[in-house]
Amino acid sequence: MFQNQEITKGIFYVGVNDRQKHKFENMLPLPYGVSYNSYLIVDEKTALVDTVDIGMGDIFIEKIQSQLQGRSLDYLIINHMEPDHSGSIKLIRKYYPEMIIVGNNKTLSMVEGYYGVTGNVLEVADGETLSLGTHKLQFHLTPMVHWPETMMTYELTEKILFSGDAFGCFGTLDGAVLDRNMNVDKYWDEMTRYYANIVGKYGAPVQKALKKLTPLDLNYICSTHGPVWSEYITEVVDMYDQLSRYETKEGVVIVYGSMYGNTELMAETVAQGVAESGIKDIIIHNVSKSDPSVIIQDIFKYRGLIIGSPTYCNELYPEVDSLLGKIELRGVKNHVFGCFGSYTWASAAVKRLTSFVETMKWPSAEVTVDEKQGLKVDNYQSCLELGRQVATMVKNYVSDPSHCG
Ligand code: FEO
Repeated sequence: MFQNQEITKGIFYVGVNDRQKHKFENMLPLPYGVSYNSYLIVDEKTALVDTVDIGMGDIFIEKIQSQLQGRSLDYLIINHMEPDHSGSIKLIRKYYPEMIIVGNNKTLSMVEGYYGVTGNVLEVADGETLSLGTHKLQFHLTPMVHWPETMMTYELTEKILFSGDAFGCFGTLDGAVLDRNMNVDKYWDEMTRYYANIVGKYGAPVQKALKKLTPLDLNYICSTHGPVWSEYITEVVDMYDQLSRYETKEGVVIVYGSMYGNTELMAETVAQGVAESGIKDIIIHNVSKSDPSVIIQDIFKYRGLIIGSPTYCNELYPEVDSLLGKIELRGVKNHVFGCFGSYTWASAAVKRLTSFVETMKWPSAEVTVDEKQGLKVDNYQSCLELGRQVATMVKNYVSDPSHCG
């Protein structure tokens, strides 16, 4: 029944859209859904590149069967074992028991570990090739982008890179598959959010992979999520390069927690100080309202970060504390920092924020503001000054080249 879209001669899109899942990895909201991309190469031999989430397994099988029309499936190439892509391996093996599973040694051990699937496997090493007839596949190991087994498969005849998660983004494919046949605007922020939250910790391995892939001539990038890139290859590769170098733009993110509005008023005042100094991109997040994945996305974009927190049970406000953990986890670099806080009888939050920035090794504004109870005139002025100082540091900041992987 299915008429799968042909990307280029003999290579078909057989992926699926997921508009039902609320949170990716049970953490990250999906306002535009997500696609799990899979590709079928039909030649003298047939090969499937990656599978899809098992929740969509039935429709996935039907798409493959529609294309193969009774032919056998000779190979399953596995670039990445995270279950949103590997989830249907066992199902596919049931339909095509003779199919050979192709992966590196780490992949194959995960295939057994996750799914108990063994036998009919082909272990490949970096640079090895596999001929399907006209199409020839070459395997490039790219470990830790963002799992240890991650690899990419390059098809030499049509110059297609099957890149796994790399260059992928949230957002379903709403009719078209190729970037040149759609409006891609909605995908850019979703690519940054995907990268920052999922791959963000692994800037150095991504840089290594990008350098390794530089000699390849690319007509298409077929990622496991989002559009097939052809017209916008330069843009997506540049975006990955910039994000993995933790390169940031002139702008300031102000994140605050506030129970009764006192710390919130400080945040507004700090923002005024930033704006007075000529910074135009200022994004304020109420940590209790904004989704953490969006806050992390904006932190990856902009150079300045100012965090405010009330003291809560002699600690940071819990939502702020949770955010700090997410920033530390990702080893975010190339930022300048400022902090402020408020308390009622004993101050703790600002001390914790100060020790956080020492851990991150970011330059920090000299001014910190720590107000007892409601904001008063002296500290109102200090909040303005904090904003001005961070703005100046943002403007004068020179990226540390040691952060470039
Ligand atoms: Fe889309 Fe790392 O899985």
